[in-house]
Amino acid sequence: MSLSTLFLSWRGVKSLIQSRGMILLAIPWMILLIVSIGPLIKKNLMDSEQPRRILVDTDVDTDDVFALFYLLKQNKSEFDLQAITINANGWSDGGHAINHIYDILFMMDKDHIPVGVGGEGGILPNGTILPNVGGFLPIIDQGMSTAGGCRYRQAIWVGPNGRQDINSNFGLRKAFLPQGGRKYTPLEQPTAQQVMINAISAGPTTVFLIGSHTNFAIFLMSNPHLKKNVEHIYVMGGAIRSNCSNGTNSTRSESEQCSSIGNLHPKDSNPYAEYNIFSDPFAAYTVLHSGIPVTLIPLDATGTIPVSKDFFIELEKRQNTYEAQYCYQSLKIIRDIGRLINFMRIMTCGTILWSVQHYQ
Ligand SMILES: *[C@@H]1O[C@H](CO)[C@@H](O)[C@H](O)[C@H]1NC(C)=O
Ligand SMILES: *[C@@H]1O[C@H](CO)[C@@H](O)[C@H](O)[C@H]1NC(C)=O
Ligand SMILES: *[C@@H]1O[C@H](CO)[C@@H](O)[C@H](O)[C@H]1NC(C)=O
Ligand SMILES: *[C@@H]1O[C@H](CO)[C@@H](O)[C@H](O)[C@H]1NC(C)=O
Ligand SMILES: *[C@@H]1O[C@H](CO)[C@@H](O)[C@H](O)[C@H]1NC(C)=O
Repeated sequence: MSLSTLFLSWRGVKSLIQSRGMILLAIPWMILLIVSIGPLIKKNLMDSEQPRRILVDTDVDTDDVFALFYLLKQNKSEFDLQAITINANGWSDGGHAINHIYDILFMMDKDHIPVGVGGEGGILPNGTILPNVGGFLPIIDQGMSTAGGCRYRQAIWVGPNGRQDINSNFGLRKAFLPQGGRKYTPLEQPTAQQVMINAISAGPTTVFLIGSHTNFAIFLMSNPHLKKNVEHIYVMGGAIRSNCSNGTNSTRSESEQCSSIGNLHPKDSNPYAEYNIFSDPFAAYTVLHSGIPVTLIPLDATGTIPVSKDFFIELEKRQNTYEAQYCYQSLKIIRDIGRLINFMRIMTCGTILWSVQHYQ
């Protein structure tokens, strides 16, 4: 499957390849305007009067927070976020991720949005593990244990710059966000599966997968009758075009030659893989082969729109909302510690949301 094939099927956007110049300009501005000004550039591209019902599955990495801000700033009668589910085998741990989302929703006066967590539920009092736990382990290892080698998740390290920092958004979450009445309660938190079932059975839903696909793949496998309610899936993940400049230059190692493809750290652990797909390959397979229309936003697209110095400076000037301040301060920390992976990802979220807006 080539990138151009994917984008040619992207309704509303004629072709990424043809219009790349436009996207390059459009994305930073879209994000800038949305994040800092709030009310959107109004483009009445919706076919019907019905709001688009949206479910987001996220591992609450910093860029995902930006995407949520963007979405929550939309006019609710056009884009209506129904529910958020937490992927517990990505960049955050379930409890921290839930609290982070709760604080954001409280700040934005959206306390009504349900939040479900993966990796909980599905364990009976007698110790039987049902196959719908959906966290900590990729699907292929579930149903047998809740502990294991974590062969995929161990690619996301625990210490500085890894889960430790993403859990707290580098300490910014508690320092900045107000805390409302909702907080994570172990064993009482609605599960990701419950929340997905509730949201999707209530009507046609557009699903955004911006972490690994574990929760949604389990949902599709357990609820085939609800598949018809999923209108479209937007996936942030993958790396499509291999562009290793092998040629005749044998002085460079394969990981050097392929360094522009994947985003795993360290690079030579697997130069091709992208985290969201790598974390649960079978889940991604299940989603991509579900038969539901999918728009994939791979690293190939992200790489064309890095956060530039100009963008950063412009954002610094537009600090009129708490959301803009939170974004800017998060970005600043990321820049200062050189966590470039996130810089790229922020762009990817922007691309997804941009594509939804142009979806007809
Ligand atoms: C939201 O969109 C609806 C329908 O397009 C419109 O009637 C309403 O004025 C919009 N609200 C805001 C705050 O822009
Ligand atoms: C555990 O409980 C469930 C439901 O009550 C039951 O179906 C299952 O057989 C039990 N498993 C064991 C090992 O006792
Ligand atoms: C592949 O890499 C070469 C050298 O870096 C570059 O010139 C070319 O544009 C790349 N091709 C694609 C399709 O990205
Ligand atoms: C690059 O060369 C190495 C060593 O010959 C080979 O294993 C690898 O598959 C090549 N990669 C690509 C993308 O052609
Ligand atoms: C081969 O790769 C090395 C290391 O990146 C580089 O210094 C050299 O210029 C390359 N040679 C050619 C012929 O591309």
